[in-house]
Amino acid sequence: MDKQWKLYEDLDSILYSEAQLKEAVAQLGERITRDYQGKKPVMVCILKGASVFFCDLIRQIDLPLEIDFMVVSSYGNGTSSTGEVQLVKDLGRSVNGRDVIIVEDIVDSGSTLSYLKKVLDSRGVSSLRICSLLDKPARRRVPLSVDYSCFEIPDAFVVGYGLDYAERYRNLPDIGVLAPRIYQES
Ligand code: IMP
Ligand code: MG
Repeated sequence: MDKQWKLYEDLDSILYSEAQLKEAVAQLGERITRDYQGKKPVMVCILKGASVFFCDLIRQIDLPLEIDFMVVSSYGNGTSSTGEVQLVKDLGRSVNGRDVIIVEDIVDSGSTLSYLKKVLDSRGVSSLRICSLLDKPARRRVPLSVDYSCFEIPDAFVVGYGLDYAERYRNLPDIGVLAPRIYQES
């Protein structure tokens, strides 16, 4: 952590620093560039959690890619999923015949991504892969494999670099474990 921000007082520890995230995202961008040679993938950002990761990742990929956005809701303001996923905003264009990469912040129970996979699979995509910055396999309730991920994390509630608790902490440049007193208070 380089900054002396007040927001950091709500964290128990830093899991990944800004520099570690930058390095991991650059490596992932190179991997996707290699894997999709000769293709023009559509990268789909799942708002809002993946927004920061997405903006950094697409700038590390040397391909004629396109971007689009989806909004889903599942969590409310708690720290565990209700399992019910709602599509709040759909893609702007057809993905029929396209190579699609879904970009998510974290896979927890797996319900959000298995829902999105089903939705996009039904639209005649040529291929579909899942890219998630973080993977929390210990919490999986729906079987789901992640094609690209930067870090596997333990079962802890993390915030920063786009990830929120009750819409806060998305602007932290690092990823850290939120102190349980913060969500136990409210
Ligand atoms: P899933 O449907 O249970 O896999 O949950 C996925 C969504 O839950 C992610 O897109 C996040 O928005 C949220 N989520 C899961 N774990 C965390 C966490 O540790 N911190 C912040 N958000 C989380
Ligand atoms: Mg969220």
